Amino acid sequence: MARFIDELKRTHRCGDLRASDEGKEVVLFGWVSSYRDHGGCVFIDLRDRDGITQLVFDPDLSGHGDLPKQSYAQAQALRSEWVIGVRGVVKSRGAMKNPKLATGEIEVHALELTVFNKADTPPFEITDDIDTGEEKRLQYRYLDLRRAPLQRTLRVRHQINQIVRRYFDANGFLELETPFMVKYTPGGARNFLVPSRMNAGKFYALAESPQLFKQLYMCAGFDRYFQIVKCFRDEALRLDRQPEFTQIDVEMSFVNQDDVFATMEGMIFAVWKEVLGIDLKEKYPSGRFPQMPFEESMGKYGNDKPDLRFGMPHTDVTALVVDHAGGGVPFWKDIADKFASGAYRKDLPTEIVKAMRVPAEHAAKLSRAELDKLEDFVKGMGSKGLARAKIDGQGNWTQSPLAKTITPELRAKINEAVGASENDLVFFQFGKEATVQTVMANLRVHLAKKLGLIPEVGHGGNFELLWVVNPPLFEYDDEKKTWAAAHHAFTRPHDDCVDLIEKDPGKVLCWRYDLVLNGFEIGGGSIRLHDPEVQAKVFRALGISDDEAKQKFGFLLDALRYGAPPHGGIAVGMDRLAMLLSGAESLRDVIPFPKTQKGQDLMTDAPNKVEPEQLRELHVRIVEPPT
Ligand code: AMO
Repeated sequence: MARFIDELKRTHRCGDLRASDEGKEVVLFGWVSSYRDHGGCVFIDLRDRDGITQLVFDPDLSGHGDLPKQSYAQAQALRSEWVIGVRGVVKSRGAMKNPKLATGEIEVHALELTVFNKADTPPFEITDDIDTGEEKRLQYRYLDLRRAPLQRTLRVRHQINQIVRRYFDANGFLELETPFMVKYTPGGARNFLVPSRMNAGKFYALAESPQLFKQLYMCAGFDRYFQIVKCFRDEALRLDRQPEFTQIDVEMSFVNQDDVFATMEGMIFAVWKEVLGIDLKEKYPSGRFPQMPFEESMGKYGNDKPDLRFGMPHTDVTALVVDHAGGGVPFWKDIADKFASGAYRKDLPTEIVKAMRVPAEHAAKLSRAELDKLEDFVKGMGSKGLARAKIDGQGNWTQSPLAKTITPELRAKINEAVGASENDLVFFQFGKEATVQTVMANLRVHLAKKLGLIPEVGHGGNFELLWVVNPPLFEYDDEKKTWAAAHHAFTRPHDDCVDLIEKDPGKVLCWRYDLVLNGFEIGGGSIRLHDPEVQAKVFRALGISDDEAKQKFGFLLDALRYGAPPHGGIAVGMDRLAMLLSGAESLRDVIPFPKTQKGQDLMTDAPNKVEPEQLRELHVRIVEPPT
């Protein structure tokens, strides 16, 4: 029988011991975090997931026979990351206290030591701050995960999971599972496909979300569903996107949008309170988050996920430019002419002109060189340049190519619209709507970081939550020249818009909503269409024939005809939530085993090639990509 583990059980974890434990005999297990040999004693920092305890191997420790001498001799061989067990006595560190450590008041004087396992020298040091490249850290992720910052963020994930489960259970939700291997349905994100060995030439899709199944649970009468669930999407990856991610997925029957909001607000309040110790009631005394119409969000911030920790909204001055026939600015005249001739219609994508005022106190901080860098920044996003104007005491524009030709009338109108005063700076973007919006949205956030209005990374102690509501149901696909579902085809339009579905699709608003936190979309959902007649109208507007609809979504359409309750729901991106709560820069910092930007797992080397025999079994042939 082994002395440690079998006989000597762990009494404490490495973060547990305090001054009040002085004199106790304890058994600790963990990893050698650091080793120092000082004045005839060996000092070890012993680490486990809960913290660090200082061990002292003192050969002259009296009152314990030969044991201290023996363990001192053993301890001299210890090296970083060896896994050990130790029995010892807790002693005060007296004046040598380490205020940075939770256990800093004490140390454990070792009597017995065992080495469970030696370790090769790790490829990087296991400490809080390291500058090792991410590739190496991902390759040895199990070592990276030993570091305290990652241990902390994974603990945050654990906490979120527990809080969410408790919250929904207490509110009458059932935690129900849905399949990952599903039928491929078009629309939404691109699916990963899984070939079926038993059904030659056929494929499953990996579920991009449990969407259709959670609606089927409602049709089946389960009333309130939730699940903490993996989703799979084969899309371009970014700091806030992983191919495999986790949603807190929710669906409810007999509810309207406001009921869904209240439910989710309760969850967010609970998470903030328990994870961060923050009572969001102080910021949102009504218990409710503000709401902003989609149109206002696009107009003021250029996207549907505005960061409200700072101001600097945009002003859409297209209407002014059109009214003034371009006001003497050649590019603007082109745009105004197209509106005047009817080539541009307001409900279809056009070209727009947007302005953003940087107040004088911030503008003063931007040097010429920095302004040039901003120009490079916008060009990187496909913009032709960054027109700007500095405002003088009379409202004139200086330092601006626009100043030469713009009419005093249009200039005055724009000054008024953006609220410009002396020494303010106004940036302009004009051209294709989508590009202008993206460039201006990113410019606003980029500038805020440059000006120190928000931190480069993290929340800075400030959490701005917001519902973005009432978006259009359809969006125009400029390439295909057709209307497409902006979200999915099962979102319920506002009742007063149903008549517009066929007449004027661009004007149809719907019960879809996004939950936004500090400029990130952390959740999205909708009230669903449960009325087969309206559903048929939507399909017609999308150019989907009855047959096609049947073939693609038949099972859901059938279910909706057998008595579907009114229902709606939402999914919150669990990884994004964990990232924003813990102030991390990327989802990779809060996902234990993430993929790189290219969708690779550097530790296991996935995806990898498989044997020709496996491919034959799957009836799959590889077509080598062109070199
Ligand atoms: P949606 O597609 O908006 O809605 O996704 C919901 C939330 O999931 C998170 N998310 C992601 N997180 C990490 N990596 C990704 N690739 C990724 N994609 C999405 C976001 C997003 O807000 N079925 C609907 C929900 C519903 O209508 O009920 C859905 O999946 O935080």
